[in-house]
Amino acid sequence: MTDCPGEYVLAIETSCDETAVSICDADGVILVSKVASQIELHAPYGGVVPELASRNHSADLKPLISATLEEAGLDWRDISVIAATSGPGLASSLLIGDTTAKAIAAALACPFYSINHMEGHLLSPFIGAGVEIPPHIALIVSGGHTLLVEVEAVGHYRILGSTKDDAAGEAFDKVGKMLDLPYPGGPQISERAEEGNPTAFDFPRSMLDSGDHEFSFSGLKTSVRYLIEKQLKPLSDKTLNDICASFQAAVVDVLIGKLRHAARENNSGIIAVSGGVSCNESLRERCRELAENEGLTLMLATPGYSTDNAAMIAFAAAARRAAGITGSSLNRDINPNLQLGETG
Ligand code: KG4
Ligand code: ZN
Repeated sequence: MTDCPGEYVLAIETSCDETAVSICDADGVILVSKVASQIELHAPYGGVVPELASRNHSADLKPLISATLEEAGLDWRDISVIAATSGPGLASSLLIGDTTAKAIAAALACPFYSINHMEGHLLSPFIGAGVEIPPHIALIVSGGHTLLVEVEAVGHYRILGSTKDDAAGEAFDKVGKMLDLPYPGGPQISERAEEGNPTAFDFPRSMLDSGDHEFSFSGLKTSVRYLIEKQLKPLSDKTLNDICASFQAAVVDVLIGKLRHAARENNSGIIAVSGGVSCNESLRERCRELAENEGLTLMLATPGYSTDNAAMIAFAAAARRAAGITGSSLNRDINPNLQLGETG
C-alpha cells in the first residue's frame, strides 16, 4: 500500500481482558476508540480467567470492528494499515486479536504492524500531541509492569529500572483483595483513599532511597497484611479508608521519588506517565506538583487511554510509521513475555 497522507490505521488490542478496537489517521489523531470491558465477567473470580477472556474476545471482536468503522464513517477501502498487540499478555487472548488483524491485513494487502503493548502504554501520553515523540523519561505503571524508561525516539527505549516483585497495579489489586474490595482493587482503593487519612498508618516506602531506578512493592503488601491481621474485625469504614489512603500514599511516594530521581539525571525536561495506575488521582496530582517544582513538562495519559485500549496501539503504529519503521511479517508470532524494546 502507498504512504498516502490520508491513510487510516485500524488497531486491535486483546492482550488481557479488554477487547478494544480503534482507528487513527497518519498523524495519530484518534477517530474512534472502543473498549468492550470484561471486568464484570471476571470480577466473581477475583482476577482474569484466561479461557473466559479469549472466548469473549472471539465473540466481541467482529461486532466491535464493525461498530468502530461505522462510527468513524469509514469502510474497509479507507483502511490502509492494520495493527495488533503481539505481547506481552495472555497467549490465548493475544492470539485472537493478532490472528484477526493478520487475516484482515492479508485480505486488504496492506501493511501489518505488530505492536508491543508496553510501547502502546509508553507513547499514550502523546496521543493528541502528534506522532513526533521527543526524548523524555517515561514511567509506566500498569497491572503487570512498573517501568522507568529513557526514551530517545520512537523504537529507541532504554529501561532504567523495573519492579523486583509486584507491579504497582498488582499491589493495588492484591491489597484490594486482602480488604475484600471488589476486583480490580486499584479504582476501589483510590476511591476509598479520598475519604481516608494518608498518615494514619506508616507503611514502608521500599527502595525509595536506594539510589537506583528499581522498585519493590511486596514488602509494602506484607506490611498491609500484618496490619489487617492486628485490626478488630470486621474493619470499620474509617479503618478501611485509612488503610487505603496510607497504602496509596506509600505507593505514590515511591513512584514520585523514583520519577524525580530519573528526571534529574536526564536533561530532556519532559516526563510522561502512563498505564492503568496513572488513572489514580493522587498520583496525577503529585505528578503535576513534581513537574511544577522541577520545571518539567508533564505528559499524562488521559484516563481513557491509561487503562488498556486500542487507541494507544493505533497511535504507536502511526508513530512507528511516521518514524520510517516498516511493518511486521505476517509470520511473526505473538510473544506473551515480550519485553519493551523488542519489536512485536
Ligand atoms: O494498564 P492496565 O489497564 O492493564 C495492564 O496492562 O496491566 O492497568 C490495570 C491496572 C490494575 O491493576 C488496576 O487496579 C489499576 O491499573 N488501576 C488503578 C486505578 N485504575 C486502574 N490503580 C490505582 N488507582 C486507580 N484509580
Ligand atoms: Zn496494559
